[in-house]
Amino acid sequence: MHSQLILSIPSISMFIFFFISLFFLPISYCQDDENFVHCFSPFDCGDIKNLTYPFWTDGRPPLCQHEGFRLTKCKDQQPVINVSGNEFRLIYLNQSTYTMSIARNDLWENICPANLINVNVESRVLRYHPRNRHLTFFYNCTPSLPNLFQCTGEGEFYSLYADDLFERDRYEDLRDSCGTAIQVQVNQSAFAELQNQTPQRLEAWKLGFDVVYNLAEILCSACNNSRRGKCEILSSQYPICNNPAFY
Ligand SMILES: *[C@@H]1O[C@H](CO)[C@@H](O)[C@H](O)[C@H]1NC(C)=O
Ligand SMILES: *[C@@H]1O[C@H](CO)[C@@H](O)[C@H](O)[C@H]1NC(C)=O
Ligand SMILES: *[C@@H]1O[C@H](CO)[C@@H](O)[C@H](O)[C@H]1NC(C)=O
Ligand SMILES: *[C@@H]1O[C@H](CO)[C@@H](O)[C@H](O)[C@H]1NC(C)=O
Ligand SMILES: *[C@@H]1O[C@H](CO)[C@@H](O)[C@H](O)[C@H]1NC(C)=O
Repeated sequence: MHSQLILSIPSISMFIFFFISLFFLPISYCQDDENFVHCFSPFDCGDIKNLTYPFWTDGRPPLCQHEGFRLTKCKDQQPVINVSGNEFRLIYLNQSTYTMSIARNDLWENICPANLINVNVESRVLRYHPRNRHLTFFYNCTPSLPNLFQCTGEGEFYSLYADDLFERDRYEDLRDSCGTAIQVQVNQSAFAELQNQTPQRLEAWKLGFDVVYNLAEILCSACNNSRRGKCEILSSQYPICNNPAFY
């Protein structure tokens, strides 16, 4: 017998349908697939409601666990996810458009963290939303520059941010007048919010950027990893999970 599970991205219900339809086959190895349906039972975490796969929280079976989508700190308003070793607050999630707004946890309370690093979330399953704005933060600048904000900590120092789209021609000078620079992204509404703030009073960040997750890739790697089968994404919309157990 030769069987394929064909999934269309917009229709998770169809995906579940294929797994459910397997229950009616009188074969014991369908156990895994039955468990997989539980990955779609909704849960709440902080302000984010009705979360389903690929999101998960402690206590979900290993089949439901996908790296980068584990929610922690559900007692706080914003849950936290850990993507490739960095923590992000999950501020907003739309599971119909596979879009989420996240913010770097290290910048959240303090935009002058001790450890000034660039982080990158992009992977096979995550990409930045093309409408994010790109900014560069220049730290430890000459105090005579305009629009500086003050960092406190080990001594006081002055810093500023600039918009990559319109201010790039200043960057060479800024690199000479400042110390470390890091690049960050913010979504459109966060950018508008930032424009309304006086730079001098910038202390906390609390601004998010948007990322889109690729459910087809996630389902495919679940198909591969659970050893249920070998996955192929033939077109971007139709991942196929070939189950070797059926051959
Ligand atoms: C969560 O799902 C339940 C049941 O489907 C629904 O009644 C509720 O409005 C949903 N809540 C949100 C915030 O989407
Ligand atoms: C994030 O996850 C990695 C492993 O993937 C772990 O080593 C690290 O400690 C985690 N970071 C935080 C801040 O929890
Ligand atoms: C998700 O996005 C769609 C399309 O933009 C929108 O219609 C829907 O209301 C959004 N859902 C939530 C929960 O924000
Ligand atoms: C942008 O990020 C903010 C958090 O800074 C979030 O509240 C908002 O929903 C996001 N906007 C869009 C359009 O996704
Ligand atoms: C799943 O396995 C197939 C075959 O080994 C491979 O071509 C594909 O890239 C894998 N997909 C994912 C998402 O890991």
